[in-house]
Amino acid sequence: MSVVVDGLLGHPRLHLRATDSTNTRARELAVGGAPHGTLVTAREQSAGRGRQGRHWTAPAGRALLCSLVIRDPPRLLPLAAGVAVALLAGPSAQIKWPNDVLIAGRKVAGILVEARLQDRWAVVGIGLNVAVREYDLPLELRGSAGGLGLEPDAVEPTLVRLLGELQRWTEAPAEQVLDAVRSRDALLEREVRWAGGRGTAAGIDGEGRLIVATETGRVALDAGEVHLA
Ligand code: BTN
Repeated sequence: MSVVVDGLLGHPRLHLRATDSTNTRARELAVGGAPHGTLVTAREQSAGRGRQGRHWTAPAGRALLCSLVIRDPPRLLPLAAGVAVALLAGPSAQIKWPNDVLIAGRKVAGILVEARLQDRWAVVGIGLNVAVREYDLPLELRGSAGGLGLEPDAVEPTLVRLLGELQRWTEAPAEQVLDAVRSRDALLEREVRWAGGRGTAAGIDGEGRLIVATETGRVALDAGEVHLA
């Protein structure tokens, strides 16, 4: 008897004890024709990658480190992934646009979406600090990063729940994704700054862009990094 798993996120799965970056592995698989839903996980990464060219570090076995191949990615995939992770992280979790997930102002998860739209695929990489403790973190992250407060044996069950949330939110209508982001918007009415200016965050528009009210009018940011001022 065969089981049909077409379209189900998490199948097939490649689990590695250690790798440089699960996103790098998943990109290679995507280029090689891996099906929608292909999952790469690792216990440890030696060169985890973050947004804006940053590194992503996590102690071995205490964080969920995973990357998924998504074929025909939805327009709001980066936001949908943030919603999925935030729902998993609990009712107090907020989303700092575009998709950092915060609990009590501390970043517990980061998401790196890398797409090759001409080939109609994207890789969604998620690092979620399931069982990362304050003293596991590098000194420079201790004030700003956090974790879910769980034990290492929760990493695998957390992955199962995450795949369920991702399945739901990558297939959800754009308006539902936007409403979910808006209801957890960590930046709303906060003073923010970015490379091009500063102002007051004023919500998320229909394209998933961050609206900022500045002294000279409203601007819509569609990429880049925003910081609390
Ligand atoms: C960020 O907030 O800058 C995004 C961090 C994304 C980290 C995850 S960990 C699993 C996957 N593999 C990587 O190399 N990066 C992502």
